[in-house]
Amino acid sequence: MGSEREAIERVVAEAEHLLHAYKQDDLAHHMSELSEAERRKLAAQVLRVDFEALAQVYRSRSACSIAQDERIAPIPFLDVNMLSPDTYDQYEQRGLDLLREGKVGVIVVAGGQGSRLGHAGPKGTLDIGLSSHKSLFQLQAERLLKLSLRVGRVVPWYIMTSPENHDDTINFYASHRFFGYPEEDCFFLEQNTMPAMDHEGKLLLASPSELYLAPSGNGECFASLKRSGALEDMLRRGVTWLFYYNVDNALIQMADLVFIGMADLHSYPIASKVVSKELPEEEVGLVCMRNERPAIVEYTEFPESLLQERNVQGELTYALANVSIHMFRYDFIAQHADTSIPFHVASKAIPYLKTDGVMIASDVPNAYKLERLIFDFFPLAEGMTVLRVDREKEFAPVKNKEGEDSPRTAKQLVLRMYPEED
Ligand code: UD1
Repeated sequence: MGSEREAIERVVAEAEHLLHAYKQDDLAHHMSELSEAERRKLAAQVLRVDFEALAQVYRSRSACSIAQDERIAPIPFLDVNMLSPDTYDQYEQRGLDLLREGKVGVIVVAGGQGSRLGHAGPKGTLDIGLSSHKSLFQLQAERLLKLSLRVGRVVPWYIMTSPENHDDTINFYASHRFFGYPEEDCFFLEQNTMPAMDHEGKLLLASPSELYLAPSGNGECFASLKRSGALEDMLRRGVTWLFYYNVDNALIQMADLVFIGMADLHSYPIASKVVSKELPEEEVGLVCMRNERPAIVEYTEFPESLLQERNVQGELTYALANVSIHMFRYDFIAQHADTSIPFHVASKAIPYLKTDGVMIASDVPNAYKLERLIFDFFPLAEGMTVLRVDREKEFAPVKNKEGEDSPRTAKQLVLRMYPEED
């Protein structure tokens, strides 16, 4: 008993020491006033925080954009409509072979919060207004099931969630009997989180005994695949390529054959689909070369002058929009599952509890969230294969409640491609 108490006291003392060392004195004081059980809970959470990483991110919070001396250039790409019939058939056949041999898995990144969308619950549970009321998850499951039937083999489906939507996601799948998808081929994995902090760098609370932890970006994908055992599952099944997509794309062509075959027939460990960007101000990442390495630069970080740059024909120089559809080779994921990529800082409106017990709600950004972005792994590859596809066939993002990229626009796009969904 005595030694258990001593162990608890050690944990609390260590947590207090860390908090003081990293200028979180208010939080240390708050912790000292909690009941013993609450103090123990908070102290244990504090010990799991990487304070050095947090302090570093805070110091360099505005420095993640492109520096003056960096070299940005367009990236070579293939266009799906310009492939010769022979090449197209060759890619398609290779994709089919790989799927038949069980060498392809699929991952949906579904850990983000649908804050811009105002949807309560995991984003994948959203009904975009089809008369069938199918959710995004159901549309994806049915397409994957159809593909599995075509190739005669079930494609393993990895679903990345976050602590705040993990149980709700699994319950949703379970209550819909996994949409007919074999349960043993659905692998739910919870992604990592990072504490949020206010604009002064102070950690925030979600409740008196809990830090405010937020999902730390889709760049946690590789690390979370490893930690959850999904990477091992891929190895056991013989999966050599992982098809990656965003949960919010209502038109996603799940694991399409030509893209898979193209990725495999080139020597690079990454392949990425792009669409033509329509307007300079469109809020999409740009696929390009950065310092002679493949890269995607988020619209928020791309230099304004390059965003507007046009060639002699009047076309945008940087017009390859990231639609977040990638292929990653297994060895690349395994090699980089422990690689530390940088955090990007986003200022967001976060409701949190102040250490004096007052709840703070704000309509304007009041706190920093830390996110790792999947494409920060791209420069670690020597190159990547880029395929330009038709936007109207493959990209219907649901980002906003109304207007552009909303459930309404996604529904229209889905019905244009799949009239049978009406
Ligand atoms: C993303 C791309 C952007 C691209 C656009 C296309 C990133 C960082 N940016 O923008 O370049 O043009 O899609 O639609 O990918 N997610 C998690 N965990 C998290 C955060 C996000 O799983 O902690 C998932 C979301 O559920 C979503 C995807 O990642 O499926 C992208 O979300 P978000 O980071 O909000 O990026 P977007 O603004 O949608």
